[in-house]
Amino acid sequence: MKPRELTKDIYCVGAIDWDRRLFDSLVPLPDGTSYNAYLIKGSQKTALIDTVNPPMQDVLFDNLNDLGVKRIDYVVFNHAEPDHSGTISEILEKYPEAKAVCTDKCKAILIDRFGVPDAKFQVVADKETISLGDRTLEFIHAPWVHWPETMLTYLREDKILFPCDLFASHLAITDLFVRNAEQELEAATRFYAEIMMPFRQQIQKHLETLKNYEIKIIAPSHGPMHDKPKYILNAYNSWVNDPPGNIVVIPYVSMHGSTRQMVAHLVTNLTRRGVTVKQFDLAASDVGKLAMALVDAATIVIGSPTVLTGPHPGVAYAAFLANAVRPKARFASIIGSYGWGGRVVDAIAAMIPNLRVEIIPPVIIKGYPKEADYKALDALADAIVAKHKEAGLK
Ligand code: FEO
Repeated sequence: MKPRELTKDIYCVGAIDWDRRLFDSLVPLPDGTSYNAYLIKGSQKTALIDTVNPPMQDVLFDNLNDLGVKRIDYVVFNHAEPDHSGTISEILEKYPEAKAVCTDKCKAILIDRFGVPDAKFQVVADKETISLGDRTLEFIHAPWVHWPETMLTYLREDKILFPCDLFASHLAITDLFVRNAEQELEAATRFYAEIMMPFRQQIQKHLETLKNYEIKIIAPSHGPMHDKPKYILNAYNSWVNDPPGNIVVIPYVSMHGSTRQMVAHLVTNLTRRGVTVKQFDLAASDVGKLAMALVDAATIVIGSPTVLTGPHPGVAYAAFLANAVRPKARFASIIGSYGWGGRVVDAIAAMIPNLRVEIIPPVIIKGYPKEADYKALDALADAIVAKHKEAGLK
C-alpha cells in the first residue's frame, strides 16, 4: 500500500498485512491486520508516529522514499510492542538525526528488547509538547493500554489523536477511514475484548482525560482511521462503564453428549425466561468470539465433562483465557458430568480468581442427565434469572 494522505502533509505510511491469521501466537486474526505509521510534516520538523512490524519494514521505507523524506527529526514510539516498534533500529539508522520519543518506561523496554543506545532517546513527560514549527505534538501518558509504558499523541492544530492500540481494530482494509461501520465495530469489539478488556479501569481514566481534548480524527495503529470518532468513543465508554446485560455465556466441551444435553436444557430454560444466551462449543469455537461475548455478559456458566478427575483441557484453556481478560461478569456457575468421580468444580473455581463473581451453586451429575438433574438445571436457571433481576440487569 502506497502512502495515503489523511490531511495536508499528514500521511499513513504503514503496511496492510492481509494474510496474518494469528497475533502473539495466541489471538486469531480472521480479517488480517495493518500496522499504521503516520508521517507528519511540520514547517520546520518532521515526525513519524510509530513504525511497523519488522517483516513489513520495506513497505514503510518505500513509502517514506515515495514521499521524498530525507530527514526525520522525531520517531514517536507510543508503545514498545514490536508490531509498532520492532523497526526502531533500522529507522534510526536510516534517519540518523531522528530522536526516539517515548515515555521513560517505553525507553527501558526498547533498550532491553532492541539494544538501542541511550543517547538516541528523548523521553517525554505527561502533557509535554514538541513543536514541528506550525504543528505541535502533545504526549498524553496513558499507561496500561495494554502495556505499562503506553502513551497517546495528540496533534493540536489538526486535532488528530494517535492512540496506537487504543481504539484500534485488526482489520486489513484499503479504506483509509471507517466506511463500513458495522464491520469496523465487530473488529473493534474483538480487539477490545482480546486486548484491552483486562485494563477496563485504566481505560476509564484515559477516556475521562480525553474529554479535555477536541478530537476530529482518531488514527490508531491497526485498522481504519475514525473520521467520525464519536461512535468508537461511545463504544469504549459503554464497554468500560456500562453494567453487563441480561446475558449468559456458556463455554463448554462435551465428550459423550451428557454435558451438551445439560447445556441445551439450560439454554432453552434461560431463553424462555427472557435471558439472552450465547453458547460456545470449545472444540469448534473461535476464542475471539468467546472473548467478544464476555464483553457484556452478566453470567458465565462453564460446562465440562470430567477427564482424569479434572476439567477437560479445552475448558481449562477457556477458563484461563476468561480469567486473563477479566470481563465484567458478576455471576458464574459450572455444569458437567462425570463417570465415576472427580473434582471439576474445585479445579475450575481455582482457575478464575480474577473474575469477581458470585458463584451460583454448580450442577455436576453422574452419567447422562436424568429427571432430578434437569430439575437441578431448572433451579440453576431460576437462580440466574433471580440474580439478574435483583441486579437490575437489562
Ligand atoms: Fe499493536 Fe500492543 O501492539
